[in-house]
Amino acid sequence: MIMKKPLIILVLFIIQTIAAQNSRMLIPSEISRNVIYEMQEMGAQLTADDIYNPNQTSLNDAVIQFNGGCTGEIVSPKGLILTNHHCGYGAIQSHSTFEHNYVQDGFWAQNFEQELPNPGMYVTFVRKITEVTKQILNGITDDMDENIKQSIIQKNINQLKKTFPKKEWQDLSVKAFYDGNKYYAFVEENYKDIRLVAAPPASIGKFGADTDNWMWPRHTGDFSIFRIYADKNNRPAEYSPDNVPYQTDAYFKISIKPTRPGSFFMIYGFPGRTQEYLPAVAVEQKVNIINPARIHTREIALNVMKNFMSKNDTIKLQYTAKFARIANYWKKWKGESQGINKTKAIKKKKEFEQYFLSQVKEKNLDPSYLTIFDTFDDLYQKNKDIELARNYFIEIAYLNNDLLSRAFNLYNLQDIYEHKGKEAFKKQAEDLAPNVAQSFKNYNEQVDKELFKKLMQLYIDNMPRKYINEQLLNIDLNKLADEIYDNSVLNNRENLEKLYHKNPKKFNKILQEDPGYQFAKILINDYYNKIAPDYKYIRNQINKVQRKYMKGIIQAMDKLPYPDANGTLRISYGIIKGYQPRDAVLYYPISHLQGVMEKYIPNDYEFDVPDKLIKLYEQKDYAPYSNTGFMPVNFLGTAHTTGGNSGSPAINKEGELIGINFDRVWEGTMSDLYYDQKISRNIMVDIKYVLFIIDKYGNNKRLIEEMTIIK
Ligand code: ARG
Ligand code: GLU
Repeated sequence: MIMKKPLIILVLFIIQTIAAQNSRMLIPSEISRNVIYEMQEMGAQLTADDIYNPNQTSLNDAVIQFNGGCTGEIVSPKGLILTNHHCGYGAIQSHSTFEHNYVQDGFWAQNFEQELPNPGMYVTFVRKITEVTKQILNGITDDMDENIKQSIIQKNINQLKKTFPKKEWQDLSVKAFYDGNKYYAFVEENYKDIRLVAAPPASIGKFGADTDNWMWPRHTGDFSIFRIYADKNNRPAEYSPDNVPYQTDAYFKISIKPTRPGSFFMIYGFPGRTQEYLPAVAVEQKVNIINPARIHTREIALNVMKNFMSKNDTIKLQYTAKFARIANYWKKWKGESQGINKTKAIKKKKEFEQYFLSQVKEKNLDPSYLTIFDTFDDLYQKNKDIELARNYFIEIAYLNNDLLSRAFNLYNLQDIYEHKGKEAFKKQAEDLAPNVAQSFKNYNEQVDKELFKKLMQLYIDNMPRKYINEQLLNIDLNKLADEIYDNSVLNNRENLEKLYHKNPKKFNKILQEDPGYQFAKILINDYYNKIAPDYKYIRNQINKVQRKYMKGIIQAMDKLPYPDANGTLRISYGIIKGYQPRDAVLYYPISHLQGVMEKYIPNDYEFDVPDKLIKLYEQKDYAPYSNTGFMPVNFLGTAHTTGGNSGSPAINKEGELIGINFDRVWEGTMSDLYYDQKISRNIMVDIKYVLFIIDKYGNNKRLIEEMTIIK
C-alpha cells in the first residue's frame, strides 16, 4: 500500500502533463468540441467555425504563410500584411542603398505608388484542409521496404494533386502528420506580387539585436508591413504594374484595449518543426552530443567574426547579418540543452516510456511494441557518428565558411551537367551567376580565411574517423589556406563570375586546376559518398520505428495527442503570463517603453534609440493607444510556438489582433523537444506599440485609416 501511492500519483501526473500537452499545436479543421470548450472556458468567445470554415470567410483567410518561412496576417480590406521585421529584413535590405538606407532609417510608403515590389516573394493562403490518409497510404504495408514505401506515397500524392477538386488558380500540398501515420491535403493560393509598405528603423525593429535575442525582458518593435497585389480579378499573378491591391473581407480588426495578464489569446500560424515524441535516447543524443558539437563550432565562428568586427567598422557592417544568423541558433541550442536538463525532460520521457509499455500490456496492443525502446537504443547508437559527421560537414563545409559554400554550389552545378546535360547546366549557371556578387558583397577575405583555418582544424580534430579522409590528417592548414586564398577562383569575384558563363568543358577544366575547389571536393566527396548514404540508411530505419512508436502512442493514449509541427497551419492558445526563470526571480509578462530607455546606449549597434522615439517618450504622446502614461512594447504568453511562427497574429478572445509573435524565451526553447508550461513562453510585440510607431513615429496616417481599430 505504502509503495503504491507514489506510483499512482506519478502515473496521474504523467497523464495530466500529456493531457495538458494535448491542446498545443492544433490543426484548425480538427478543433474538437473538447478543445473549443477548453478555449471558451479560458475566455474565448470564438466558435470552431469562426476559426476555420472552408465554406465562408473565417480567421484562416486572414492568416498567410509569409514567403515560405514566416507567418503574416491581413489587417485591411486592401490586402495589407503585418509580419515581423526579421521576416521582412531581406526585402528591406534589398531596397536599401547608401542614399536610402531603409534598414537604418526605416521606410514609409506614402501612397500605393511608393510601395516596392519584391521579386520572388510570395504569400500562401490555406483555404481548405482535408484528411487524405486513406488515399495516400493506399497500397502501403507495414513491412514494406522504406524506399519503396516512400515512392508509392509520392505516386499517390501526385495522383491526388491531379484529381483533388480545386480552382485553377489554387494549388494542393500534401503533408505527413504523426510521423507519417496520417496525411492532410491543403488547398492553397499563392500570391506572388508582394510589396514593401513600411518598416521601422532597425533601432526599433531589431532593438536589442543579438544580446536580447531569445530573451526576456524584451523591447523589440519587430514588425514590418507589406501588401498583396492581385490581377484585376483579385487572383494571384506575377508582378505587374497593372496589378491592384488584393481585396478581401477577411482581415483582422485590431484591439487597442489594455493588455492584461491572465487573459486568453491564441496564435494562428505556420510552426515549422517540433519533435515532441522522440524517445528519451534520441533527446539525450541531441542535447548531449549533437547540440554541443554545433554550439562549439558556431562559438569558434562567432569569435572569429567578433574579433574582426570589433576592430573594423566595414567588417562589422558586412558581417552583422551573418553573425545574427549564426548566433540565433547557437543561442537557441544552448538554451535548449539547458532547458532539457533543468526540466528533467529525459527522466520524464523515460517515465513516459514505462507508462507506454504498461499501456501496451493493459490494452493488449501489438506485443512487438514491448521491444521498441531496445530497437531505438540500438539505432541511435549506430546513428551517433553519422549524425555528428553530418552536422560537422554542414556547419563547417557548408554554412559557416563562404569559400567552401561557393565550392559546394559549383560542385552541384557540375553534377547537373553530368546528370542533366548541357542545357540544364547553362540555365542553372545563369540563374546562379548573380549570387556571386551577393556572396562577395558581405565578404572579407581575411575573416573568411581565419574562419577556414579555425573551422578546418576543428573538422580534422573532431570528425569521426570513419568519415574523415586520410589526406586531411597530415595537412599544414596555414600553408593550405595561403595557397587557396591567394590562388583560388573561389576567392576571386571577377573570375568566379566569369566562370559561371563558361561552357561546361572550360568550366570543368578551370575547376580541375583550382586548389580551393580541389580541396573542397575532398570534403564534398566524403559527404556524398560516405556520410549521406549512411545517413539515409539509418534515417530510413529510425523513421520507420518512430512511425510505429507514434502509432503506438496514439493507441495507448485515451485522447489523440496533437501532431508535431510540420510547417502547416496551426492554432495554439494560452494566457498572457510571466514565468520564473530561476529561484526568487519572477518575470512580469509586459514590457514598456521606459524599458527601451533603460537599455538605451547612444550609438550602440544594438541599443541605440532614435531621437524621435526619445522625444515621443518624453512627451508621453501615446493616445489613443495608451492613456495610462505607459506604452506596452512586448508581452509573454503560454502558447506553444516554434520557428515559422514568427509574424503570427496573437488574437484575443473576440478574435481581434492584439500582437505579433516573434520569439520565445531562452529558458523555454527546449519546447521543440519537450514543452513545459512552467517556463516555455512565446514573445509577442504589442499591437498598440506597432500602431503607435506607424502613427506617431512614421506619421503614416493612411495605414492607420485603412485598419479597423477597436477601442
Ligand atoms: N529568435 C528569433 C527567431 O528565431 C528572432 C531571430 C531574429 N533576430 C536575430 N537577432 N537573429 O527567428
Ligand atoms: N523567431 C522565430 C521565427 O523566425 C520564432 C521564434 C521561435 O522559434 O519560436 O520563426
